[in-house]
Amino acid sequence: MIELKNIEKVYNQGTSREVKALKNISLSIERGEIFGVIGLSGAGKSTLIRHINMLERPTSGQVIVDGQDLTAMSESKLRAARSHIGMIFQSFNLLSSATVSDNIAFPLRLEGKMTEDKIKERVAELLKLVGLEDKAQMYPAQLSGGQKQRVGIARALANDPKVLLCDEATSALDPKTTMSILELLMQLRDKLNLTIVIITHQMEVIKECCDRVAVIDGGIISEMGSTLQIFTDPQQPLTKRLVSAVVRRGLPELLRHTEIVDQYTEGSKAVVELLFLGPKADAPVIVEVATLCKVKISLLGGSIDHIKKEPFGLMVVEVGGSKAEIEHALDEFKARIHRVEVLGYDQRKQLSDF
Ligand SMILES: Nc1ncnc2c1ncn2[C@@H]1O[C@H](COP(=O)(O)OP(=O)(O)OP(=O)(O)O)[C@@H](O)[C@H]1O
Ligand SMILES: [Mg+2]
Repeated sequence: MIELKNIEKVYNQGTSREVKALKNISLSIERGEIFGVIGLSGAGKSTLIRHINMLERPTSGQVIVDGQDLTAMSESKLRAARSHIGMIFQSFNLLSSATVSDNIAFPLRLEGKMTEDKIKERVAELLKLVGLEDKAQMYPAQLSGGQKQRVGIARALANDPKVLLCDEATSALDPKTTMSILELLMQLRDKLNLTIVIITHQMEVIKECCDRVAVIDGGIISEMGSTLQIFTDPQQPLTKRLVSAVVRRGLPELLRHTEIVDQYTEGSKAVVELLFLGPKADAPVIVEVATLCKVKISLLGGSIDHIKKEPFGLMVVEVGGSKAEIEHALDEFKARIHRVEVLGYDQRKQLSDF
């Protein structure tokens, strides 16, 4: 649905200063996909999303949306193509002197193709779609942030777009309202087969609803993959840092002051990170392995979470036994769960009290 080919964007600030905001960006986004772009402030996220509807023209490269090369279009053709690309913003960008209905009707009146009766009908439909039927005659100042963003979404969908671009659309909202807006976006994707691009600096947003994600750093895509892949197996330091804000990895607090070594020595216990994923995440794996392999397993830390509603658990355990028993247990864990990683060996004689 969306294809960016070798996009470069250079801003000239004054005579001598150049800012390379985007450097050789290539990516393609499938129809019906929710695609996330995450990065730190100034990374180039807004610049990137503004290229998808050509609010910014690339210095070089191609932008192809639904098979049409937007970079090769005349202004008038581009205007028509743009009406099939909706956009919502962090600051909602509503007209404060217009009612909710008039805000939503704005792009329809601007286009001038519908009669007032048809516009009324369409606005009613859109209000229903975003759950604001009872707010039609209110003004933006009378709405909560979440309600304002719903108006923003309804307005963005007025022209029946195929693509919805969201630039930090939930950044001004509290966590609960953020979730309700993300829930709405997922419903809209399913109902309308929309392709949605979400720009955010919040990994929580990605975790909740994105199918795939690109990490952007200094105008470059530093890493890209399925959300599951990025969360469970991040490669780049920045991705690891972003993920660690949501999913705590590594040695738990309990072992911070304990010497953990790389090699097994007689009597030491393996410190193991277990990554559970999907429907099997709640199986009684730890008890099974302890019984089968006759090892002692103590729980040092862990959490159960979800990625796009899929269960996702991370546990750190200590496994005590002979070298062969520990190896057997590691094999049995590997056969049962998504990933097993030995973080090291704890040489203390007593298993911790947990
Ligand atoms: N119109 C412009 N003229 C000159 N430089 C610009 C312009 N727009 C963006 N930039 C520069 O491009 C870089 C990327 O900016 P961009 O707004 O895309 O970042 P961002 O990732 O959206 O950041 P934030 O999370 O703070 O919104 C920055 O260095 C910025 O200063
Ligand atoms: Mg931005």
